[in-house]
Amino acid sequence: MSKVVVISGHPDLGQSNTNSVILSQLSQFIDDVEIRRLDMLYPDYQIDVEGEQEVLLGADIIVLQFPFYWYSIPALLKKWMDDVFAYNFAYGSKGDKLKGKEFILSFTVGGPDESYKPLGYNHFAIEQLLHPLEQTAYLSGMNYHTPVYTHSMVYIPDVYNTLEDVQQRAMEHALKLTNKIKAISHSTDNAIRKFVKNWFEEFDQLPAESDFFTAGLTEDVNWKMPDGQFNGHDGFCEWYEIAKATFKPNCDHQVEQIEVHQFGDDYKVNLRIRLIAETFEDSPMEGNEVNMLVNEAWLVHLNKAGEVKIFDYDVQLVSA
Ligand SMILES: Cc1cc2nc3c(=O)[nH]c(=O)nc-3n(C[C@H](O)[C@H](O)[C@H](O)COP(=O)(O)O)c2cc1C
Repeated sequence: MSKVVVISGHPDLGQSNTNSVILSQLSQFIDDVEIRRLDMLYPDYQIDVEGEQEVLLGADIIVLQFPFYWYSIPALLKKWMDDVFAYNFAYGSKGDKLKGKEFILSFTVGGPDESYKPLGYNHFAIEQLLHPLEQTAYLSGMNYHTPVYTHSMVYIPDVYNTLEDVQQRAMEHALKLTNKIKAISHSTDNAIRKFVKNWFEEFDQLPAESDFFTAGLTEDVNWKMPDGQFNGHDGFCEWYEIAKATFKPNCDHQVEQIEVHQFGDDYKVNLRIRLIAETFEDSPMEGNEVNMLVNEAWLVHLNKAGEVKIFDYDVQLVSA
């Protein structure tokens, strides 16, 4: 089972009508969950950066739970993020510590659904307002999931909503979030994302033998690269020899974006990969350092045992 860490960004849960309900439900529904109440831990906003980073290192699934404040996260949660998602932790040349972790935004919204429409008083869709947080996940290599949020969660007696209604919605929210966490920790999506992570970690090493890779490819794989098309395991091995003669080991494949979609009985995986590598003098790259961006489209089978096999691998160069 995955380890779930929930960061509660409400500045004062003692005054909360909905986030407090969601958190207490969650602790009952999910076994291995750690809920970190930033309002209790850091009433003075002085974040224990190393302590927080340590907790995140041990997490498989990171949930940010917060009330939507001024179309974003509350200041306390922003301070936590500014401090904890530091250079060489969440970004930078050694900043891969959050890479591959599952990231869920879970929040309560005061305004009703219809207000977040072009003609509503909030004009923008919630998803548009979340773009900075979504990009934060991409930059730090986390898997960004569809957020869980609930509208009409503000309670002002005799003005907005009733306490019973907002608390009922909070319970429903907790159930939705629980189902999402359980689905992610068991899902095919997760199996494929883990496969992608391992695949590129192995590619970074450029091992002498190609067995690891051929084990993840069907016998008749179509391997389409900017420099030509290769078929089957033999075709892959031919291409791999060229790759090994071009790139030096310990290169860096950064998975900047990943999307997994159902494709009939199979799956389509769209990736945005940045490759940073040194090359050999006697290769076509003539010893130049490479920093290239590619879009990759994979078609994969996933069997009942959770094994992934790629049957179509298409790489398009975006920029070099
Ligand atoms: C400082 C502040 C800013 C807020 N900004 C927004 C906002 O931008 N959009 C919105 O729909 N609701 C906004 N609200 C309403 C909160 O989202 C709502 O009160 C909260 O989700 C309820 O959670 P709680 O019961 O756990 O406190 C704001 C509330 C406060 C106090």
